[in-house]
Amino acid sequence: MRIALALAVFLTAGVALAPGAFAQGHEAVEAPKQPWSFNGPFGTFDRASMQRGFQVYKEVCSNCHSMKEMYYRNLTSIGLNEEQVKAIAASATVPGGTDDSGQAVERPALPSDHFRSPFANDKAARSANGGALPPDQSLIVKARENGSDYVFALLNGYEDAPADVKVGEGQYYNKYFPGHQLAMPAPLHEGAVTYADGTPATIEQMSRDVTQFLTWTSNPDLEVRKRMGVKVVLFLTLMTGLTYAVKKKVWKDVH
Ligand code: HEC
Repeated sequence: MRIALALAVFLTAGVALAPGAFAQGHEAVEAPKQPWSFNGPFGTFDRASMQRGFQVYKEVCSNCHSMKEMYYRNLTSIGLNEEQVKAIAASATVPGGTDDSGQAVERPALPSDHFRSPFANDKAARSANGGALPPDQSLIVKARENGSDYVFALLNGYEDAPADVKVGEGQYYNKYFPGHQLAMPAPLHEGAVTYADGTPATIEQMSRDVTQFLTWTSNPDLEVRKRMGVKVVLFLTLMTGLTYAVKKKVWKDVH
């Protein structure tokens, strides 16, 4: 009897806690897990994917989203050389103070500059986006639960709204967004960018690449931390073995 009761409680709790079991209505749908290269204790970033992802950010996302924490020089960490970084920086213009007559001027960016922001300030960003503020993307993956899976799912998650859902003006249906409607139109379409390495630019591929890039901007020290973690575990294992060997030796005559 007791066992049956315990089993019943266990099963009920299991069903209630099963993620997404009742995720209907306006609850956000949980993003499916993706096999990212940076998952797990030995995970690393995929440099080629990050570079393609930067291209997607630069050509698509950066029209609306700023990335204020990033400097152009940081791009050497995704495998670009200094000449490439200089050229990328120089292709953007940033505010360059004022000229002799007090007019604001622009100048080509340098590797030491922050990424160029698409709008002068939040008000301008809102007014260009129907009142919604495109959030700064520097830390966007960290700022969302299961950020990498979520951003990937969101970019792929645009679809026609079910018949019983009324989509508000200037809103777009996406089941992964909490509330299912957001002010960002689907940013990607097939072939939105042309990859230099010949990778076909499908929506899924571009989403994967830009998410790889955004995961790095949120966690630039991820690889260092993981390597350190592995070293610490190795060290502790060795130490445990050594301590045990010493203990055996010291106590070997005591019974
Ligand atoms: C046309 C402008 C525009 C473009 C281009 C654009 N976005 Fe957005 N994005 C927005 C706006 C506006 C919001 C805020 C939506 C809201 O809160 O309703 C947003 C929100 C987001 C969010 C946050 C969603 C959340 O959980 O709050 C993410 C992530 C995002 N965009 C990623 C991207 C990526 C990646 C790209 C490039 C592939 C991109 N966006 C391109 C306008 C844009």
